[in-house]
Amino acid sequence: MTAARSINADVAEALEEAKANYAKVNPKSRAVHAKALKSLPGGNTRTGIFFDPFPIAWERGEGARLFDADGHSYVDFISEATAGIYGHSHPGIKKAIEDRMALGWNLGGHTALESELAEIIIDRFPSIERLRFVNSGTEANMFNVQVARVATGRPAVMGFNGCYHGGFLTFTAATNPLNVPFETVVGNYNDVEGTRALMAKNASRLAAVIFEPMLGGGGCIPATPEFLKMLREESTKHGIVMIMDEVMTSRLSSGGLQKHTGVIPDLTSLGKYIGGGLPAGAFGGKAEFLDRFDPRKSDALPHSGTYNNNVMTLACGIAGLGKIYTKEAATTLNARGDGLRKRLSAVCDKAGVGMQFLGIGSMLAVHMQRGDIKTPEQAAKGNAKLRELFFFDLLEKGVHVMPKRGMLALCLPLTDADFDTLVAAVEEFVQVRRSLFD
Ligand SMILES: Cc1ncc(COP(=O)(O)O)c(C=O)c1O
Repeated sequence: MTAARSINADVAEALEEAKANYAKVNPKSRAVHAKALKSLPGGNTRTGIFFDPFPIAWERGEGARLFDADGHSYVDFISEATAGIYGHSHPGIKKAIEDRMALGWNLGGHTALESELAEIIIDRFPSIERLRFVNSGTEANMFNVQVARVATGRPAVMGFNGCYHGGFLTFTAATNPLNVPFETVVGNYNDVEGTRALMAKNASRLAAVIFEPMLGGGGCIPATPEFLKMLREESTKHGIVMIMDEVMTSRLSSGGLQKHTGVIPDLTSLGKYIGGGLPAGAFGGKAEFLDRFDPRKSDALPHSGTYNNNVMTLACGIAGLGKIYTKEAATTLNARGDGLRKRLSAVCDKAGVGMQFLGIGSMLAVHMQRGDIKTPEQAAKGNAKLRELFFFDLLEKGVHVMPKRGMLALCLPLTDADFDTLVAAVEEFVQVRRSLFD
């Protein structure tokens, strides 16, 4: 699959050439996209995974491998944006699906599965005393924010530049016209004193502060310990509900980044892999907030959702968290991720190029620049075209990373040999593309 490489004058030219090569070797993916253009806007139903000139059409997945319509196979270092922690065909998840299917689905009532998965989650995440299930991370965040607004009687929500909390609640660089029309106060991620001042100034109208303890899609930039400590202190001081969005980061220890950092929020949002790779989400935290949903109360908050207790998701979540991604497995995977990130950083250091990897444990992201990156504003100064080129060059080597964000998320079936494949592909990238670095 490797195309003959010419010496490019600049990154733009190299990227054009890489895209042309990609288009040449992926005619069937192009055809799938062309057909989809007739029924879906831009041939797409999930903005974050689209890339130019057309996305890869996957046919199947097995373990940590993906196979596309044109007959190529890739080692998958995306893991469905963290949701696919079990890989694409884990026998334990498959068995849970088959066992549950044999008993029928869409039962439409309560089952013992609900509290079984809830107890596993409560045992793992320090902030969660009670929880409710939803179908996505977006929903989890929305319910957490809404319960905070009801409980405090205050209207506004504080978020941070660069944080993504779902389609209706993003604080990423461009303003999102689809955000729910809450009053918002937007702070700068990792800005300790600026945030402290903003929280004090707006305290009387702030119901909640919501944040990712490490930016996921925003480049795997961890919150500094000082920033987290300040958020906890100021939330408590002003009666602002602290919501930790652990939709992605909950995989980063046996009890998420809250356990890893020791900073315990009032409410936590979960999603992604917690349903074993099936559509899932949960919001939970202090009983004083969650018990407002107790339907036996005359003033209970309503929270319905046809698929909240979908037996397939619950059964897969139980198999996944209960038997496969155990506390020990989480510790091991994240230690392996830390080791991989160090190897990749060493490749960049040795080559002396403006490229680095940030992250914690099983989540990491590439940045095409030198120097410390503590904020999304600093990250935005990286060479975006070079990062896009990195994606296409790695594809040629049979390695799949995130097209636009340069993010990688590890799944359990990835082997040490797969790690070697990635490291070798990155070594080749820095050598072959050396002249294109700033
Ligand atoms: C931190 C974070 N919060 C919330 C969400 C939204 O989750 P979902 O896509 O399941 O709605 C995402 C999705 O990527 C996320 O990364």
